[in-house]
Amino acid sequence: MVMHLIAAPGVPGVPGAPPCAGLAPGVATEVRLTDGATVFLRDACADTPRLREMFFTLSDTTRFFYFCAGVPRNDVWAERVARLSIADGYTSYAMVAEVGGKLVGVARFDRDKQGSRAEIGILVTDAWQSRGLGRQMLARLHAEATGRALTGFTALVLGENRRAMRLLRGAFPTMQASFSYGQFTIDMPFAPESVPARAR
Ligand SMILES: CC(C)(COP(=O)(O)OP(=O)(O)OC[C@H]1O[C@@H](n2cnc3c(N)ncnc32)[C@H](O)[C@@H]1OP(=O)(O)O)[C@@H](O)C(=O)NCCC(=O)NCCS
Repeated sequence: MVMHLIAAPGVPGVPGAPPCAGLAPGVATEVRLTDGATVFLRDACADTPRLREMFFTLSDTTRFFYFCAGVPRNDVWAERVARLSIADGYTSYAMVAEVGGKLVGVARFDRDKQGSRAEIGILVTDAWQSRGLGRQMLARLHAEATGRALTGFTALVLGENRRAMRLLRGAFPTMQASFSYGQFTIDMPFAPESVPARAR
């Protein structure tokens, strides 16, 4: 459930940081999860230090599912996660989920070469999984994407990542999934009514 818009608590200003991903940096939406917990969702902005910190909380399984490969818990991969927050707001968009000044999720999309679809990635920390946060983040990605005239998402998901499949199918019941080399390539066209007429 989306509750209301408020000023984001404590968005840090980092000298030399890349521009914020969205149009309204500093504005967060407070959402309530299925168990009543509340989380702030906002456009990513100067979040690299806190995403590096978040990376070191991730379990082996979560890192494996996100990267579709077993990746070590080290500074190189922490930097990869930190850079998920860097986006220009048009060819790419990034958002974070924040609780009590700490990041508990990051999600982004990147336009394909044709420019009408975008590949998504969503990463929620272990303690916050299966509580409805991924669903809220996906809904915000969708809203941001339709606002940028995108007509669908794509995703790569490991075959054993049943939760991600449930999340995506719940949001996009008409999605098409093809399986190859242990992973699904998923195509999620947006419902026509959610796509602005100029993008159809
Ligand atoms: C996959 C991931 C992003 C999902 O986020 P999440 O916050 O755990 O997921 P949610 O709780 O919002 O949604 C999943 C659950 O809600 C249900 N759900 C979500 N949307 C739904 C809908 N519209 N209708 C019905 N059910 C829905 C799913 O059945 C699922 O149930 P589960 O709790 O039994 O697994 C998260 O678990 C994660 O970060 N995993 C590791 C990294 C990863 O796999 N990333 C995905 C790559 S794209």
